[in-house]
Amino acid sequence: MSNIDLNLGRSEFGNPENAGNVLPESEAFELLNSWVKNEKLIVHMRQVAHLMKSYAKKKGYDESTQYRWFLAGLLHDADWDQWPDLHCKKIIEELESRQVDPEIIRAIASHGPRYFGVEPKSEMDKMLYAFDELSGFVHAYSLMRPTGYDGMEIKGVKKRLKDKTFAAQVSREDIRDGSERAGLSVEELIQFVIDNQPDALN
Ligand SMILES: [Fe+2]
Ligand SMILES: [Fe+2]
Repeated sequence: MSNIDLNLGRSEFGNPENAGNVLPESEAFELLNSWVKNEKLIVHMRQVAHLMKSYAKKKGYDESTQYRWFLAGLLHDADWDQWPDLHCKKIIEELESRQVDPEIIRAIASHGPRYFGVEPKSEMDKMLYAFDELSGFVHAYSLMRPTGYDGMEIKGVKKRLKDKTFAAQVSREDIRDGSERAGLSVEELIQFVIDNQPDALN
């Protein structure tokens, strides 16, 4: 992330009356494809979306809840490509104008507490924050392994986490902080990513 001030300066998002409102999948992908030209960023958002959905499913949440978790992941960096200085203000305002469920908007607003000044509160908030950086990191690791995700182990990921030159842009501090706030160990999170991320683009 850049050094510009991304603090959102507020802690209320969306309208409670819009609870349960979502963008249909086709509309969400339309928004993504019109805003994001960077293919790698689209891959990242699809991976985080898949992890969010898979986690909600693992917790036994119903399909509409799984879909709300999915949407938060799918759109969390939608404005990063074209408006990095307005990340994630721009997507929040867009979703507010489209009357999307405030729970989804709030999760997006709290995916980087150090930058946006919004604390992750709900489980959805916390899991989006916990998966975001780790997902990209594990993906970077898969790209340098001859077998990709096949045979990947927690210890291999942890070794790369200790190597500060590997995927240097990924904040180890955010990964640690995210796991602590989620109440899950980094090892548990890594295993979940290894198990679920390979299916993200199917
Ligand atoms: Fe972001
Ligand atoms: Fe992200």
